[in-house]
Amino acid sequence: MVRTFARPIPLVLTLAFCTFIPVMMAAVRVVQIPLDALPEDSLRLTSVPVAFFLHALAGVLFGVLGPVQFVRALRRRFGTLHRLTGQVFVLAGVGLALSGLALLLQVESIATGLLNAARGVFGVALIAVLVLGVAAARTHAMLRHRAWMIRAYAIGMGSGTVAPVMFPVYLISGEPPTGLTTDIVVVGMWLLTIAVGESVVRRLAFPNHCSPSAP
Ligand code: HEM
Repeated sequence: MVRTFARPIPLVLTLAFCTFIPVMMAAVRVVQIPLDALPEDSLRLTSVPVAFFLHALAGVLFGVLGPVQFVRALRRRFGTLHRLTGQVFVLAGVGLALSGLALLLQVESIATGLLNAARGVFGVALIAVLVLGVAAARTHAMLRHRAWMIRAYAIGMGSGTVAPVMFPVYLISGEPPTGLTTDIVVVGMWLLTIAVGESVVRRLAFPNHCSPSAP
């Protein structure tokens, strides 16, 4: 499975599938917040409107640019563009984490302590990993740079990969799924996403490791 993910097209398609719902949801919020057209269960977040808006906007940019940045053919042919969009990706990632932490600290949560702890840990981890990714690019350590950026994307988007499971529940019940079982599934999927990201990093670093013909 990881071999498949290590190839560019399956990787990008898988990322796009897993992140489509959270990215679309964030895009809808980007429009709804300035129009004052939010659904009732998101209204509590308007107590910190700037952080809420920035979080949604950063989520869209981070979610859309991530898969594009990983396409090797684009990196090779459009190196300058890759660097430019990479800077936006990093800023969006840092903005996503900082605004997520601001929401966590300033809005009364309806989630359990487990999910909130995960949000805190992964929010801080996302900033740290992006800093390491930028530092690696500055020293032209491109393998290390790519590894940290894959990890950053997995950490940032990990909270949303549960959406293909949870969104149908939301549509059927009409209410966002909550409670300990839901949060265990969300955190589990978050950890699984990070583990898959790590496997891709290893696969790219040691391309022949899993090959049947490897010595
Ligand atoms: C490290 C990554 C992330 C952290 C720490 C984080 C943190 C948070 C927190 C604390 C909330 C408020 C939850 C509540 O009280 O209901 C929230 C809401 C939200 N997040 Fe994130 N988030 C992260 C990643 C993302 C990503 C990648 C996206 C989109 C692509 C995203 C989109 C949203 C949206 C749209 C909401 C508002 C949900 C609603 O309207 O009810 N977040 N996030």
